Amino acid sequence: MSASLEGQTVVVIGGASGIGLGVAKAAAAEGAKVVIGSSQAANVERAVAIVGGSASGAVINVVDEASVAAFFAKLSGLDHLVFTAGDWGANRGGPPADIDLAGAQAAFAVRFWGALAAVKYASRIIAPTGSITLTDGMMAHRPMKGAAVSTAMLGAIEHLTQGLAVDLAPVRVNCVCPGLILTERNSQMRPDMLQAYTARAPLARPGATAEVAEAYLYLMRGGYTTGQTLRVDGGGSVV
Ligand SMILES: NC(=O)c1ccc[n+]([C@@H]2O[C@H](COP(=O)([O-])OP(=O)(O)OC[C@H]3O[C@@H](n4cnc5c(N)ncnc54)[C@H](OP(=O)(O)O)[C@@H]3O)[C@@H](O)[C@H]2O)c1
Repeated sequence: MSASLEGQTVVVIGGASGIGLGVAKAAAAEGAKVVIGSSQAANVERAVAIVGGSASGAVINVVDEASVAAFFAKLSGLDHLVFTAGDWGANRGGPPADIDLAGAQAAFAVRFWGALAAVKYASRIIAPTGSITLTDGMMAHRPMKGAAVSTAMLGAIEHLTQGLAVDLAPVRVNCVCPGLILTERNSQMRPDMLQAYTARAPLARPGATAEVAEAYLYLMRGGYTTGQTLRVDGGGSVV
């Protein structure tokens, strides 16, 4: 049975911008009480103002367990956790013979270990009818030269999803795997680069945050879906 998000508490870690902000806006438009978390207070404030209505927010640094614990301690409960927090800076790539091992390990800090930290504390207070939705990326399925660590990290998120779906049932745990989505961060990419990145896909264009947000909303509402990865990539992974 699909449940309405009306009146449900939806926590979006990483909701200050990009895909997470798109999810926050879409959930709020369905009547959800949205709680936005990210590491910079100014970003949280800006996002809360954009979403408006009953939206609220707080600072959380997902690489700091005390910060994660404090964020969830402020909540009396939640229905859905969405995790889109991501960083882009770690030195994680290069030929295996030259790889910076510390940088490679750091590549897992926000998106994998940060997700697990959020799940740890959210799972203590989440409604049994609720859901958790993580985020990976197409490099899990389409390795690029010099990016083996990113492929491994993204694949690990998908396998974490499957394990958590078993551990946390009846809470449902799923993952969204986006293709190239136009966000504030990558909107400065040259149009020809964006075009080159998506040229082979059946839908040969980047996705919009509102389009990928639909996937998160489905996974929150879809009561019989758990342990799954939903690819939202314009069909790029089938060609
Ligand atoms: N956009 C795409 O094309 C695409 C495609 C595939 C996968 N993805 C993945 O999807 C996720 C979201 O992408 P996006 O484009 O929406 O990126 P984004 O706009 O950079 O959003 C990432 C969010 O994470 C927050 N964040 C970063 N470090 C954090 C930390 N330590 N603790 C808490 N929050 C933190 C950031 O806010 P603060 O700076 O305030 O912390 C920001 O709001 C990323 O993991 C990205 O790799 C994106």
